[in-house]
Amino acid sequence: MNYVEKDLKYIWHPCSQMKDYEELNPIVIEKGEGVWLYDIHGNAYLDCISSWWTNTLGHSNKRINEAIKKQIDSIEHVIFANFSNKPAIELAEKLVNITPYKLKKVFFSDNGSSAVEIALKMSFHYNMQKGNTKKKRFVALSDAYHGETLGALSVCDVDEFNMVYKPLLLDTLRVEGPDCYRCKYGYSRENCNAECFGNMKKCLMENHEEISAVIVEPMVQGAAGMKIYSPIYLKKLRDCCDKYYVHLIADEIAMGFGRTGKMFACNHAGISPDFMCLSKGISAGYMPMSVVMTTDEVYDCFYGDYKERKSFIHSHTYAGNAMGCAIALENLKIFEQDNIIENNIEKGKLIRELTLKKAEGLNHVGEVRSIGMITAIEIVKDKKTKESYPFDMRVGYEIYKIALKKGLLLRPIGNVLYFIPPYIIQQEEIEFMVNTCFQSIEEYFQQNAGGDYTDM
Ligand SMILES: Cc1ncc(COP(=O)(O)O)c(C=O)c1O
Repeated sequence: MNYVEKDLKYIWHPCSQMKDYEELNPIVIEKGEGVWLYDIHGNAYLDCISSWWTNTLGHSNKRINEAIKKQIDSIEHVIFANFSNKPAIELAEKLVNITPYKLKKVFFSDNGSSAVEIALKMSFHYNMQKGNTKKKRFVALSDAYHGETLGALSVCDVDEFNMVYKPLLLDTLRVEGPDCYRCKYGYSRENCNAECFGNMKKCLMENHEEISAVIVEPMVQGAAGMKIYSPIYLKKLRDCCDKYYVHLIADEIAMGFGRTGKMFACNHAGISPDFMCLSKGISAGYMPMSVVMTTDEVYDCFYGDYKERKSFIHSHTYAGNAMGCAIALENLKIFEQDNIIENNIEKGKLIRELTLKKAEGLNHVGEVRSIGMITAIEIVKDKKTKESYPFDMRVGYEIYKIALKKGLLLRPIGNVLYFIPPYIIQQEEIEFMVNTCFQSIEEYFQQNAGGDYTDM
């Protein structure tokens, strides 16, 4: 049996219909370098989605590789209860220094969903200890994505992920969130004053006595199709949470570490949440790792004698993993020394400009939206009405298959194609990425949908 046959025999891949793999076999990657992935047959793919939004500094980054080699010769992993390790301590200090001012304590975990679970549990537990026993519910936005373990799934609102499990999930208060492309209030991105915040305000006003926390993906709802919204929404949210004594959880798992053009998405609004969940880019796409940052106020509430039963008894075996922390430290060092955030401004601009130019006059490109190192292209049936293609037509998936043959790894969300490349991408690679994406879109529409590609 070759690798593909063995893969199909033994592996159940995530977020997939395995029947699809019969037609499109798994691509077995042997090597990576910079933005490129190479399969066992030597085919190259530009990883313009940073391998599920994690890879900040390219595959097989020499400096990160060296940091791993150095760390592995000292300590790879050690129990994190009662024990600690140098990289974890240094990383915690660094994170406290670079995250918004209220965040003073770092709780380590090993993936994004568990970070969300921790933030939800800590918020609830805090309220129980404070005697706010009615505060048992969470508020989340429509189209939110926060991970797929049961607690995290409870605050998600993507049918594909949570519909079946609804009987098992928490009773979350769902608030209709920002949708700037299809703004119901008739505003454009430029003149938006987050009028849609009224929905959240109403929810908090009416239900605050039973609400422990509001959780949001600041600035961009990634899995919703890179829905970008105004920082004004976040400012209003911070004020409203303060007014009603409700915690604010910022899920920066996808957007933290420079993705939106600032180190953290909350920085766009100048707000400090009560909890911040970080993962993905924290370890440059190398190791499973996450943290929940919180305030002294929350931490102090759990502090006391053992018999007071105040402790936060929650653990993940790989919490504070020394390898992951050493990688994260090197990652942050490179950010500083190579001015990653500043350099991304030009790169992000170039991606946006090239994309806008290519999208001009195309009837099926509804919107090109962009922030920092994210540019998304929403494919629609009709640009004027903004009508979407039906979900089961799988327009995005069909374009993805065409692009793969041309050496581009897109992974559309429904009918939204997007570029989230590693930050080390170079101009030529940016041109290849944008050109190949549009060639693939064009090819799709030439073969399907009657070929009505341009509106000229
Ligand atoms: C905003 C957000 N929260 C949580 C998660 C879940 O992280 P993980 O897949 O590591 O569990 C993701 C993953 O894409 C995410 O984008």
